[in-house]
Formats: sequence, structure tokens, C-alpha cells
Amino acid sequence: IPRLGLISVLHQEQAGLIDNMAQRHAVSRGMRDYVSGRLWDMDTVCVLSRIGKVAAAATAATLIERFGVTHIVFTGVAGSVDAGVKVGDIVIADALVQHDMNSAPLFPRFEVPLLGQALFSSDRHLSDWLFDAAGRFVAEDVDRMVAQADRELFRLDRPRVHRGLIGSGDEFIHGPQRRGELRRAFPQLLAVEMEGAAVAQVCFEFGVPFAVIRTISDGADESAPGDFMQFIERVASRYSFGVVRRLCGV
Ligand code: ADE
Repeated sequence: IPRLGLISVLHQEQAGLIDNMAQRHAVSRGMRDYVSGRLWDMDTVCVLSRIGKVAAAATAATLIERFGVTHIVFTGVAGSVDAGVKVGDIVIADALVQHDMNSAPLFPRFEVPLLGQALFSSDRHLSDWLFDAAGRFVAEDVDRMVAQADRELFRLDRPRVHRGLIGSGDEFIHGPQRRGELRRAFPQLLAVEMEGAAVAQVCFEFGVPFAVIRTISDGADESAPGDFMQFIERVASRYSFGVVRRLCGV
């Protein structure tokens, strides 16, 4: 029987989901609270990873080994590095790369040593399911769930749902130079964040299907840190709640 592990970074991205959980039960482990219960009809364990690859990897491994999850979904925000991917859009990862991995000359740049690969594919079925959920959220829920004033404040258009490569590193990208380097290293890169590829590696190693969905909060440029918390509070948290609700078939 499936058991979904749901990871986010920030409390705002899970608060609504945890409020909607039945038979809720929290266990603290390694400085994180794992909240299990029934989310609509899905057996689910929700946890906040905190920020960065190590934090995310430890959380994913604990979800798998101690809480017995069979699938993992990561929801959060990301910076866009592609001109076609705008603030307020959604990106679902087809594959992820640790853009700060570099053991050259021992191993090729970006390759995870001894695994022999740089890119980790997300689970196709889970990602398709997430894509459908995101599509329904955009078509049916987003206008009601994100206030008109906030859509104007953040100059949001109707969200588009993209699929492609996401890069993760222990680095907040906030300027043209780093952004440009990443674009040149990975021409197909859509977005950057700080956890997804770490979860991807752990899930690969344990054979657990996973998917990553990110709301674009910034353009990974000079303006990136501005209004970040406000955006998460008023927009991204609504996206997380709305998409996961659709994922659970509601
Ligand atoms: N998460 C959201 N925006 C980001 C950025 N610009 N860089 C890294 N992680 C992010």
C-alpha cells in the first residue's frame, strides 16, 4: 500500500495540509517533526527539511528508512533561469542535477562520484500525476486561492506548468554572473533551488519513486531576495496546498 512522503522547506508550505490531516500523529527525529496521517484519502507523512542538500538528503533517508514511505514528493519554490519561465509559473522536474558537484579531475564535472551519473530522472508516473494535479489547480483553483491583490502585487499572469531540468546546489542564485554560468553549463535548465537533486539521489539509491514540483518565486537575479517571504506566504503556500489537494484526488 502506498505511503506518500511530502517534503517542503518552509512551514507555510505545509501548514494548510497538516490542518487537513486526519489521525494525525507527530514524531520528532533528528531535529525534524514527521507528521503522519491521512491527507484526504492518502496515507501521508509530512516533514520540513529545512534548507540545502544535506538537510534534504537526511530528511528523505529518514522518511524512507524510519517512516516507510513508498513515494516522495517535494513541493517548494525555485528561481527561474529560463526566459520563458516566469514568477508564478510551476516547474515539475523531469530530471535534476547537483550543479555544485565537482570532483574533477577525479570524475567528470557534475557527475555524482561512484554513481556514474549527473542527472537523476524523477519518476515518470508520479510526475505525470503531479502535472495533471497542477493543471487542474491552474484551471480550477488558482483564481480563487490566490487573491487578486496579490496577483497584481507580484504581477502574475495565468500560471504555466513547465516540465524539464531543475538544478540544485547549496547556493542561493541571485545575480547575472552565476545565473549565466549555470545557463551555459546546462542549456536546458529551467530552474534552480537547493534540495531537489539531493532528494533525487537518495531516492535513486533506495529505489523510491519521487517527484519535485516548484513554484517560481524569482528570476535568480539581483531582485531575487526581494519580497521572498511575502511571495511564499501569499502565493507559493497556496500553490502547494492546492496542487497537493488535487494530487490526493480532491
Ligand atoms: N529557491 C528559490 N529561489 C532560489 C534561487 N534564486 N536560488 C536558489 N534557490 C532558490
